Amino acid sequence: MITADILLQLAETHGTPLFVIDHDELRNNYAMFKQYLPRVQAYYAVKANPDPAIIKTLFDAGASFDVASMPEFRVVYDIIRDMPEKERQQWIWDKIIYANPIKANESLVELDRYKPLVTFDNREEIIKIKEFAPHSGLALRLRVPNTGAMVELSSKFGAGPGEAVDLILEAEKEGLTVEGLSFHVGSQTTNFENFVQAINLAAHIFSEARERGYDKMFLLDIGGGFPAPYDDSVRPFSELARKINAELERLFPPEIEILAEPGRFMVATAGTAVSKIIGKAVRDGKLCYYIDDGVYHTFSGIIFDHCQYRIEAFKQGSTQICTVFGPTCDALDVISMAEELPINLERGDLLYSRNIGAYSGASSTYFNGFPPATVVHINL
Ligand SMILES: Cc1ncc(COP(=O)(O)O)c(C=O)c1O
Repeated sequence: MITADILLQLAETHGTPLFVIDHDELRNNYAMFKQYLPRVQAYYAVKANPDPAIIKTLFDAGASFDVASMPEFRVVYDIIRDMPEKERQQWIWDKIIYANPIKANESLVELDRYKPLVTFDNREEIIKIKEFAPHSGLALRLRVPNTGAMVELSSKFGAGPGEAVDLILEAEKEGLTVEGLSFHVGSQTTNFENFVQAINLAAHIFSEARERGYDKMFLLDIGGGFPAPYDDSVRPFSELARKINAELERLFPPEIEILAEPGRFMVATAGTAVSKIIGKAVRDGKLCYYIDDGVYHTFSGIIFDHCQYRIEAFKQGSTQICTVFGPTCDALDVISMAEELPINLERGDLLYSRNIGAYSGASSTYFNGFPPATVVHINL
């Protein structure tokens, strides 16, 4: 963990708002994932934080990548583009899954040049893939319970269990090959039963497909959702891994390849935001601090990720419940209405927020003319 002293030094050197990415932490998270889920190849979900330096560090550690758009695809492809042509195709298969079930025609046309693995979940997409990217491999995205996840994804994507094998057979009829199944249990899933139920459902679809004469599936993609340790209520990753391993071993023979698409788990703890107090007021009797970063910038996860971050002060002092606002003129730009902070903080004092590496800077804007925080990489 980066110490407060180092954060202060970095802020002095680079100014604020600052978004610090610790690459040792990225490597530790990747190693932990591999240690506890040795059978699972991690395809880092680039959307969580698409910074090319993060992708390079995870690539060097052994990760593969889940991309959701052509720009994300290109960031990853840039790393492998210099490989000899013959090896490159294998690398694309091993290193990239295009895991957005709905793709624009133009994206499919471009994707077809690379023949990657892509997900789909409905008939219309089969028609599009056949027309525009017939050389892709397919993985059918299933709809699975997202109970208790911080970010629910099952209402937007996923084929229902009753239609899954029909879709697989329909894709085959169109000359496409469904190589396996995928699902997502919802982001920041602290209800570990979601994984157990989803793996069981996938096993059921595998056997129904076999019974109906389809035996070309060789992979299962268990998606993302692995929780970051935002607070003590999140049970240890080892406990989740034990459950996943037990179900995989029971239901999927070793020749079935297992993939996952962890995003938050890899980057959340690697990111720390450092901001500066730019104003101070008392409103309705409550002390309010205004800082130089907010929900249009590094704290965007408050809106888009339904995530709340703890704000800490470097300075000590007696505390009270305060409000912390971002710098823009929008009243939506509220970081916290209830943060326990010292009351003696002054303009120019710094605050910091740990565990803010995922779904944060990725959605930063230039709203009100304020640019995104400066990104600093440490332990590269
Ligand atoms: C298809 C897909 N895969 C992976 C992820 C990453 O999920 P997480 O950050 O919860 O691991 C997401 C997040 O939205 C997703 O939509």
